[in-house]
Amino acid sequence: MSNIFFSQIYGIIIIFLFFIINICNFANFYLKNNNIMSDSQVKFYSGENIPLELHKTRIVQKLHFVPIERRLAALEESGYNTFGLKTTDVFLDMLTDSGTNAMSDDQLSAMMRADDAYAGSQSFTRLQKAVEDVLGSKYFLPVHQGRAAENLLALAYINKDCRFVPMNYHFTTALAQITHKGGQIVELLYPEAFNLVSTHPFKGNMNLEALEEYIQEKGKESIPFIRMEASTNLIGGQPFSMENFRGVRAIADKYGLRIVLDASLLGENAYLIKKREVEFNNTSLGDIIKLMTGLADITYFSARKLSSSRGGGICMNNEAIFEELKPLVPLFEGFTTYGGISIREIEAMAVGLYETQDETVISQSPAFIEYLVNEAVKKGVPMLTPAGVLGAHLDGMRFCPHIPQTQYPAGALAAAVFLVSGIRGMERGSISNQRDEEGNETYADMELLRLAVPRRVFTLSQIMYAIDRLTWLHDNRELIGGLKFILEPPVLRFFNGRLAPVTDWPQKLMAKFRQDFGDSL
Ligand code: F0G
Repeated sequence: MSNIFFSQIYGIIIIFLFFIINICNFANFYLKNNNIMSDSQVKFYSGENIPLELHKTRIVQKLHFVPIERRLAALEESGYNTFGLKTTDVFLDMLTDSGTNAMSDDQLSAMMRADDAYAGSQSFTRLQKAVEDVLGSKYFLPVHQGRAAENLLALAYINKDCRFVPMNYHFTTALAQITHKGGQIVELLYPEAFNLVSTHPFKGNMNLEALEEYIQEKGKESIPFIRMEASTNLIGGQPFSMENFRGVRAIADKYGLRIVLDASLLGENAYLIKKREVEFNNTSLGDIIKLMTGLADITYFSARKLSSSRGGGICMNNEAIFEELKPLVPLFEGFTTYGGISIREIEAMAVGLYETQDETVISQSPAFIEYLVNEAVKKGVPMLTPAGVLGAHLDGMRFCPHIPQTQYPAGALAAAVFLVSGIRGMERGSISNQRDEEGNETYADMELLRLAVPRRVFTLSQIMYAIDRLTWLHDNRELIGGLKFILEPPVLRFFNGRLAPVTDWPQKLMAKFRQDFGDSL
């Protein structure tokens, strides 16, 4: 009897110790991540976490900083859509990193040796070599930008019998291209991905259990490919882990399905794998990138992002896939040795691809984003956490809880931020969504305002200015009101749609700005 009693006690103690050890490991993992993510590469004597620029600026561009009265007029002219603004009215252009990353001296000098030939240009041979060296792909098809790759892939693989595309999360252009060809997407993230205040290091992970269930439900024959998006853009530039990607590969192999990797933000995803996934802490960025592309059957990318140039591409190691897609390039893009890209940009792309292996290039934008997010959070501004890549994201629902989704809180916030600061962000909420097949609004899972931080473009004092104005706006948030569409294009409406404020809130917000800031810009 007493033996049984003692063995039960020992059992309970062992289980208890097991839990404690696990909790400690878990805490250690997150602490380690936090330390890694909050330390810049160089420690300051003061102990402050300051992201230090590891480059110098030798070509500069003058910015336009116009008074708030002009900014209000510009907003009216733009239809309260930041895509409609002109850069002569914009102080900090945080619309996107697409085609706006700073180019390196090596990229610019490579552009000068462009070998302009319609077919068989030496520049293209250099690009092919870069694709093989950096992405590990033997075959390469150039296209004019990321969405062109999405168009060709949808054209090649989506038909009425094979049209369901599971993915971690959609990107606007991928969704539009797939649905345009009669396809249907399903998004299979874990619930944590939709938690805007989180410490989860890999919110872009594919929900593996849901993926397998979906394949069984639809039947593998009806699935053209599984799409994985590196640094999942629309949920706040959140990465997936290598472990998760390996899991997706195992499921794809089990059912004989192809994986298509959207590698537009691959460098940054690889960087966060290095920082956040213990197995890869000591692996080079270049090796992580190749491991990732090695898990996909087809990799495509927007070179406007990946290689800080223009253009795009589709790569693979399978000759049959290459031959299947190749005829589409001259039909839609241009000859197969330029694919609609200028030869100068092909040179810049080749050099830019090599530079994505360089941590000093790739770490700068995530480090600035992390600084912006953490400092803004300290001031009470509702930001999406953890900081991801490409940009800092404001949580429109928490920033403007008084604006219903029917009045587009993230769009209203984008207009308000521009009005009070001259900073142009991009709405990534319901305005960026498309209507369903019956024409009904589909409200976004998240109402985000993205403030992009392109690679090596802004200075730290500009980031501090952004934090200052966001803090003021948050303190005056009740003055922000909603928006309504006055012109709504049927496809990708966020680009060229026009909206109007539902009340005269912009005038009231401007009056408060003048009251608090006097005649400051
Ligand atoms: N995939 C992802 C993940 C992207 O972020 C983008 C573009 C594309 C595909 C399409 O590439 O613009 O060259 O046709 N993202 C830009 C942005 C537009 O601002 O986030 P594209």
